[in-house]
Amino acid sequence: KLMKVFVTRRIPQEGMKLLSAAAECEVSMWDSDEPVPRAELLKGVQKANGLLCLLSDKIDAEVLDAAGPNLKIISTMSVGFDHLALQEIKKRGIRVGYTPDVLTDATAELTVALLLATARRLPEGVEEVKNGGWSSWKPLWLCGYGLSGSTVGVIGLGRIGLAIAKRLMPFGVQRLLYSGRSAKSEAAEVNGEYVPVDTLLSESDFIVVSCSLTPETQGLCNKAFFSKMKNTAVFINTSRGAVVNQEDLYDALSTGQIAAAGLDVTTPEPLPTDHPLLTLKNCVVLPHIGSATYSTRSVMSALSVRNLLCGLQGTEMPNELTL
Ligand code: GLV
Ligand code: GLV
Repeated sequence: KLMKVFVTRRIPQEGMKLLSAAAECEVSMWDSDEPVPRAELLKGVQKANGLLCLLSDKIDAEVLDAAGPNLKIISTMSVGFDHLALQEIKKRGIRVGYTPDVLTDATAELTVALLLATARRLPEGVEEVKNGGWSSWKPLWLCGYGLSGSTVGVIGLGRIGLAIAKRLMPFGVQRLLYSGRSAKSEAAEVNGEYVPVDTLLSESDFIVVSCSLTPETQGLCNKAFFSKMKNTAVFINTSRGAVVNQEDLYDALSTGQIAAAGLDVTTPEPLPTDHPLLTLKNCVVLPHIGSATYSTRSVMSALSVRNLLCGLQGTEMPNELTL
């Protein structure tokens, strides 16, 4: 008997090829580059045995109920899983596959790019070249902040946080501080010092948020958080938007409480084009492209299909989330 699979978006070819080659599957897909409308998702999952989804699909009790008791595996083409109602999923005995590791390098590279772009004001500079604002080489024009001799603070030194730290050290970073639930032995690779978050905030010139979104980290970066940062410090978030209270960030940026912010993630996504943060020159916002290299997305798609197929067969997945 064929296994029913629903795929919530067009995914890269490598994943699609693997999926079409799986003779045991009857695949239906939301065949678009745009998100599946909620009603289509609820319809698409009906009687499905497997679901392949993205981080933009909210998989909650309503979706699980619409799917019914045949659903065995949810495979998300992402490392993050805050879009999945894990309690509900666990309760129903459904397994979850995700894609850690394969996007670590791409996300760390993007984080370094965003940090440098924000600290050295690249988007502003590009804009000035185009709009005629470039009148001369000027001693104090478009000055920013450099990594050499600086202190960097990483909030959440997990796989991606560590990869970011490793890439930043060669820029001449003097001290690497990190905070999180526990000290990590891997921190030795970057001479990382485990410190209380307040110490990290008051001593860092660059603060990089790289933790996962959990009830503990939701809204972590709020008014009190920003008020402990240096006025010259640069704030970078490439994890999840909801770790940041965006109103408090806006206030911190517009009052000069902190120097600048670079965000690859926001709430909501997409961020409305009339959002106050987008009026600030010292805020660089990217459209959640941390893992967006051709090869990484290709590998992510293949891995998420392999997770899906193993979940359908009831065998060991390359990357199963422990629920
Ligand atoms: C990206 O944000 C991911 O979770 O894969
Ligand atoms: C910069 O281009 C310099 O020559 O100082």
